[in-house]
Amino acid sequence: MKAAFIREIGSPAVIQYGELPKPTPRPNEVLVKVGAVSVNPIDTYIRAGAVAMINRFPYILGCDLAGTVEEIGTEAKRFQSGDRVWGSNQGLFGRQGTFAEYACVDERWLYPTPARMTDADAAAGALVGLTAHMGLFLHADLKPGEVVFVNGGAGGVGSAVLQLAKAAGALVATTGGSDESLEICKRLGADLAVNYRDTKLDDQLRAFSIPHGGIHLWFETVREPMFDRTFSLMAPRGRVVLMAGRGARPEFPVGPFYVKDLRMMGFAMFNGSPDEQRVAALKLNTLYELGRWSPLIGKTMPLSEATDAHQLQENNTINKHGTLRGKIVLQP
Ligand SMILES: NC(=O)c1ccc[n+]([C@@H]2O[C@H](COP(=O)([O-])OP(=O)(O)OC[C@H]3O[C@@H](n4cnc5c(N)ncnc54)[C@H](OP(=O)(O)O)[C@@H]3O)[C@@H](O)[C@H]2O)c1
Repeated sequence: MKAAFIREIGSPAVIQYGELPKPTPRPNEVLVKVGAVSVNPIDTYIRAGAVAMINRFPYILGCDLAGTVEEIGTEAKRFQSGDRVWGSNQGLFGRQGTFAEYACVDERWLYPTPARMTDADAAAGALVGLTAHMGLFLHADLKPGEVVFVNGGAGGVGSAVLQLAKAAGALVATTGGSDESLEICKRLGADLAVNYRDTKLDDQLRAFSIPHGGIHLWFETVREPMFDRTFSLMAPRGRVVLMAGRGARPEFPVGPFYVKDLRMMGFAMFNGSPDEQRVAALKLNTLYELGRWSPLIGKTMPLSEATDAHQLQENNTINKHGTLRGKIVLQP
């Protein structure tokens, strides 16, 4: 089968596209004929060696996939041949990734794809949708009527947080780096969308949130949080969700944090148990069917261009080129 894989860690140039043996499912796995995969920032960290998750080469890249079940392991029970499925969590903790024509996936990490949903949409929404859902509900217990702020409402995670928070009855303020990003934020339902370079950003966030008591839930997607700003904008007992910036070591203003009874929670989606992720996945499916969740695709490319796709993701998430809005989808 054709696959995008690496034999050593390094820059996007180490990615090879070529033949690898088609895998056979272990007892608890199903063989998925891959229809689409999507790129996540963590794929680039793993490829570059910044996150150590590989225990063998060749290592097939990629966490997310959507496709059709072709073969069932002897003990797998959830799916039948021909079922359309999507999932994430591959390419992690020594598991092989998804950037191939076929992938063997433990059935616990797979979910049915809604009938109307394309494989491209399902793959695009996989890791970011699960992340947004688990962050908002499992970790931060979002309630209707609360004010949510998320940076980068036209980004992978941000666009999911924005849509899921709106669907839950929150008021959502967000940011973008261009008019195009701000247009997307508004189309996705943002109540307030401001350029993050605008010197009046915090004044606008204050004017928006103070009538409601301040920001109740701050979902931070940028890798360099600024806690002084954040805490000053929070409502008493507000929650700050941290999920980006492994290397960040920001100053922590202790007084402004505790005198408002603030709480802060960090999480990585891949720590979620299969059951926790399944709960989020099935809710995402329902929201998709209700028209409340629509993964944001910025670029679609053939899988053979995985090197360019990794470069594009890195240029945006790390180097802040501002040339990508939403997810990169690759098709084998
Ligand atoms: N903990 C977890 O489980 C988990 C899961 C998924 C992702 N992550 C991490 O979360 C981060 C975001 O991932 P992603 O997939 O959403 O990345 P992404 O698609 O590249 O989105 C990044 C977003 O950040 C915005 N942005 C850039 N500079 C900004 C600034 N100074 N202020 C506010 N917003 C700014 C961009 O807006 P414009 O494009 O409009 O400029 C863009 O919307 C990454 O570091 C990733 O590794 C963590």
